[in-house]
Amino acid sequence: MRRAPLLGVLCSGRGTNLQALLNAARAGRLPARVAVVLSDRAGAYALTRARRAGVAAHVVDPKAFATRAQFERALMRRLQAHRVRLVCLAGFMRVLSPVFVRRYRGRLLNIHPALLPAFPGAHAVRDALAWGAKVTGVTVHFVDEQVDHGPILLQEAVAVRPGETEASLLARLHRVEHRLYPKAVRLVLEGRLRVRGRVARAYRKA
Ligand code: GAR
Repeated sequence: MRRAPLLGVLCSGRGTNLQALLNAARAGRLPARVAVVLSDRAGAYALTRARRAGVAAHVVDPKAFATRAQFERALMRRLQAHRVRLVCLAGFMRVLSPVFVRRYRGRLLNIHPALLPAFPGAHAVRDALAWGAKVTGVTVHFVDEQVDHGPILLQEAVAVRPGETEASLLARLHRVEHRLYPKAVRLVLEGRLRVRGRVARAYRKA
């Protein structure tokens, strides 16, 4: 029997997207298994979610390393030890260096709560509201050497309602994220993507 491809998920916070990936894998909607969850923050609830699901969970604390390169080598060692094929950033609030990105090129995904290239960065929801955007959304993309920049896999728009708060908009964005991320991971794992330059296209396998 072929073993399911293994995912590594990097988180810094609540881990609701991690939960969506765990749920999709358990329900058979994702032909993969989450093998390891890594967090740069000891208090990240994502670690609890992982352990509850019986998945290995480790804190890799950047403060324990003299340089970013050493910190990233520790991340890569953990991913290699768990034979991870695809790495999903799920609310991992750190910029990875070109060395890390090149090591996992084409196998490193991120989810972002805006329609990139609009509102990149750590405060995308707040920024969209402050800008007065009438539409924002969710992007799943390959990670490249620039922040929130790589080829876009999937996007979905979400309308901003009058009187919207950051919390209410985030809640609706999350619902979209939890559907879109497993779908994007599935496309990659099924080899149903062609990437030319920065344009990724999904196609049906014959
Ligand atoms: C998600 O909304 C994700 O899109 C965002 O962090 C949140 C993590 O939530 N990522 C970024 O802003 C990356 N620039 P979660 O921990 O509940 O999955």
